[in-house]
Amino acid sequence: MGKVALITGITGQDGAYLAEYLIGLGYTVHGIKRRVSLFNTERIDHLYDGPEVKDRKLVLHYGDLTDSMNITRIIQEVQPDEIYNLGAMSHVKVSFESPEYAADADGIGTLRVLEAVRLLGLTEKTRIYQASTSELYGLVQEVPQRETTPFYPRSPYACAKLYGYWITVNYREAYNMHASNGILFNHESPLRGETFVTRKITRAASKIALGQQNALYLGNMSAKRDWGHAKDYVRAMHAILQQPAGDDYVIATGITTTVRDFVTMSFIYMGIEVEFKGEGVDEIGVIKSINEDKFIEAVGAEYLDAFKARIGQTIVAVDERYFRPTEVELLIGDPTKSKTVLGWEPEYDLAALCEDMMKSDIYLMKKDAYLHKGGYKILKNLE
Ligand code: NAP
Ligand code: GDD
Repeated sequence: MGKVALITGITGQDGAYLAEYLIGLGYTVHGIKRRVSLFNTERIDHLYDGPEVKDRKLVLHYGDLTDSMNITRIIQEVQPDEIYNLGAMSHVKVSFESPEYAADADGIGTLRVLEAVRLLGLTEKTRIYQASTSELYGLVQEVPQRETTPFYPRSPYACAKLYGYWITVNYREAYNMHASNGILFNHESPLRGETFVTRKITRAASKIALGQQNALYLGNMSAKRDWGHAKDYVRAMHAILQQPAGDDYVIATGITTTVRDFVTMSFIYMGIEVEFKGEGVDEIGVIKSINEDKFIEAVGAEYLDAFKARIGQTIVAVDERYFRPTEVELLIGDPTKSKTVLGWEPEYDLAALCEDMMKSDIYLMKKDAYLHKGGYKILKNLE
């Protein structure tokens, strides 16, 4: 019999990659998804079989981390060997607008999962992974950040996650539970939500090259992040729960890059050189040159002439609306513990991550434009 895992937040970026990874390892995966007015299972549809199929590998349950009865009932029904608590209001900027909700879902939501396992008498059987975050380091007290670095959260999201972190440690110590925190630094992918900065950049860069968008507006381009690939990071989540005892681990690449440099990399993938000028809110990015062969290879010959006409124009600018009341300026993790104890090694570097996201977004933006132009009629006629 394979193991049974329960994933909260299965419809999100990490939930989708983790579900795929665990199914590949022979797990039966149960996921909690919220009731929403439109389908939002696009990231996991390829893994899902209808209820008529026998021995399904992926089973979905309606639920919400703000509803303890629902969480307790699902855990009782599923009797999981492993719980991955990935569900969260995960957008730092949005948490300033919905601070109470962030505290409820991200903070108390973690308590609901831990307490359900305890009350159901599953403390011996069920191992718990808590999706903790490098945002806990906030106004960083040490560079690079490691497991022992003091926390200094800088947003309602990070404050909620701080509670999630410590209540996980407390349940581990108080009830001898196998409960662990993965302190994950930023990780991205083609499945990343569209309003996180890397995906916002790769989508906009693709649209700009294809002539669908004029410019990209960003907030603090000097912020530095330690970016990895979500595919690599879900392997670490699983490895953490295979250890003999619960513990806390930093998962990071150890390399930090500015938002501005990620913009440069994304355009360079298409042969477009962007030159940055000015400072602060007046900073702009201008098209300096085009490597035509690279552009044709990445984007397509039919888009070249229109794009060449834009040389010298501004394609990146600052919009203060994207600034945060309190910012996290620098994150860089020290993954020594996860490398030595878990044997974890990332496969993707930043260039490979950026390429994966750009390839996917150029394809998706072309497809969207085709459908908008009435291409769906052609597709329908072909069916
Ligand atoms: P994501 O794409 O935003 O996914 C979040 C998931 O949580 C979605 O499935 C969402 O459901 C679900 N969710 C939101 N509120 C919920 C609630 N009240 N009850 C149940 N589910 C709820 O985030 P992600 O990037 O995959 O991140 C996964 C987890 O890791 C999050 O806890 C995040 O805070 C944490 N984390 C992420 C990173 C990163 O760089 N990606 C780094 C460190 C930690 P809907 O689809 O219905 O919205
Ligand atoms: N989203 C966004 N949009 N961020 C921008 C923009 C913009 O237009 N312009 C600049 N930034 C800066 C932000 O101010 C921040 O410093 C950095 O880009 C990264 O922002 P996000 O991609 O939104 O991620 P985050 O670092 O705030 O949070 C993500 O990583 C955390 C781990 O450190 C989320 O996935 C969190 O859930 C996660 O815990």
